[in-house]
Amino acid sequence: MNKAVKHIVDTTAAHTGALPIANRSIAVVGLGYVGLPVAVAFGEKTGVIGFDIKEQRIQELQEGIDATLELSPFTLKNATVDYVSDPSALQASDFVIIAVPTPINAQNQPDLTPLLRASHLVGRQLNKGDIVVYESTVYPGATEEDCIPVLEEASGLCAGVDFFVGYSPERINPGDHEHTFKTIKKIVSAQDEQTLDIVAEVYEAVVEAGVHRASSIKVAEAAKIIENTQRDLNIALMNELAIIFDRMNIDTLEVLEAAGTKWNFLPFRPGLVGGHCIGVDPFYLTMKAESLGYHPEVILAGRRINDTMGRFIATALVKNLIKQNMPVLGARVTILGLSFKENVSDIRNSKVANLVHEIEEFGIDVQVTDRLVEKSEAKREYGIDLLEMSELKPADVVIFAVSHEEYVEGGWNLAQHLLKVGRGIVVDIKGTLPRAEQPEGVHVWRL
Ligand SMILES: NC(=O)c1ccc[n+]([C@@H]2O[C@H](COP(=O)([O-])OP(=O)(O)OC[C@H]3O[C@@H](n4cnc5c(N)ncnc54)[C@H](O)[C@@H]3O)[C@@H](O)[C@H]2O)c1
Repeated sequence: MNKAVKHIVDTTAAHTGALPIANRSIAVVGLGYVGLPVAVAFGEKTGVIGFDIKEQRIQELQEGIDATLELSPFTLKNATVDYVSDPSALQASDFVIIAVPTPINAQNQPDLTPLLRASHLVGRQLNKGDIVVYESTVYPGATEEDCIPVLEEASGLCAGVDFFVGYSPERINPGDHEHTFKTIKKIVSAQDEQTLDIVAEVYEAVVEAGVHRASSIKVAEAAKIIENTQRDLNIALMNELAIIFDRMNIDTLEVLEAAGTKWNFLPFRPGLVGGHCIGVDPFYLTMKAESLGYHPEVILAGRRINDTMGRFIATALVKNLIKQNMPVLGARVTILGLSFKENVSDIRNSKVANLVHEIEEFGIDVQVTDRLVEKSEAKREYGIDLLEMSELKPADVVIFAVSHEEYVEGGWNLAQHLLKVGRGIVVDIKGTLPRAEQPEGVHVWRL
C-alpha cells in the first residue's frame, strides 16, 4: 500500500476525532445521486475519499456545491470527504464502494461500460486484503461474471483470496428526504461469510435502519432489480387502465379513489415513467432472462405501455382540441416541468421530452419551463430551449407534467395565468388540480 497517501487519510480521520469504521478506510467511486449521499454519510463518521471521473463535479463538491440538489451545502460541510479525481488516491483505502451509472443503450440493452471502466480503475489500485462493494443496479450475476474478472485482470490479484467483493444495492429515492441512505434498510451481500460480516459492520455504522444479509450476491442483485420491476409493472397496469377508461369516458383517478377504499388495493397511479431506474432496470432483468432462453412477456409488456404514454397523451390532447373547437395546427402548448420526476433537477430519460416531440409532430407549438433544470443540459440532451416562467407566451393548453411544488401550489391560478385570457385546456397528468375548484372556461383532461 502507498503509505504516504494512507497517512493522509488517517490524519483526516484523526482530525475529525473519528475512528475508522470496522478498521476500514472507505472510498466511494462515482459521486452521483447515489454515491454522494453514501460518501457524505460515512464522511460524518470518519475520513472518506470521494472519487469521480468528472472533474467539474469534483470541483463543485470541493466548493460545497451539489448540482443534484440532494444535499445542502450545510450537510456537505459537515462531512469529511476528500474529493478527488486522481485514481491513485484510492490506494489509501481498503474498502471501496462503487456507485457508477448502469444505463441502457438505444436498443434498450444494458450498457455496462461505466461499471467495467470503474472496475478497471479500482482494480489498478487494489491491494491485498481490500474489499470492493458494488452499489450500482445490475442483473443477477453481473458482479461475479462481469465485474470480478475485470478487477482481477487489472490488479493481477485473485478475488476471494487476495481481495474480496460484496454487493449492496442502493434503494434511495431522489428528491425524497424521508427515505434516505440512512433510513432505508440496506441489503448487504458478499462472496464469503467473513467479508459479509465486515460489509455488514461497515454499513451498520451509518445506516440507522440496519442491514439485511442476503444469502448471496446474486440474491441481492435480484432483489434490487425486482423492486423496480414490480413498480414499473404496477404503474403500467394503471396506465393501461387509464387508456381503457379514457375510451369509456370514465375518470381513472375517481375509479382509483373508489377502489382504494378496499384494504388490499395497491395505491399506484398512472403516469410517465422516466428516469434512470424504474424505466431502465427491468431491461437488465429481461436481457439476462433472454440470454438464458426465456423471453419475458409480462415485464416487457409493461415497459411497452409505459414507454408509449407520451404518444397517448399527445393524441388525447389533439382530440380534446378538436372537441373544444380549437385549431390544432399552430395551437400553443405550455408544459410545466421537464425533469423525470417532481422536485428533482435530473432529466435523464425524461418522458416529458418524449411528450414534447410527440405533440410537435402534430404541428403544435410547444414551450417548456422548468426552473430546476439546467438550460444547457435540456438543449444538449433533447434540443429543448427551456423558458423562464415570465417568458412564456399565453397558451391554448397548459400541461401540468411534473408535480414540482411550485406548480402544485400555483394550481388553478397558475393555469389560468398561463392560458390565453384565462380560458383553454388544462392537461393534468398527475391529477394534482382539485376538480371541485375547476374554473369556468377551462376544460380539463387528466390521465
Ligand atoms: N439515482 C437513484 O435514485 C438510484 C437509486 C438506486 C440505485 N441507483 C443505481 O445507482 C447507480 C448510480 O446511479 P446514480 O443515479 O448515482 O448515477 P449518476 O449518474 O448520478 O452518478 C454517477 C457518477 O459516477 C461517475 N462516473 C461514471 N463513470 C465513472 C467511472 N468510471 N469512475 C468513477 N466515476 C464514474 C459520474 O461522473 C457520476 O458523477 C446506478 O446503477 C443506478 O441504477 C440509482
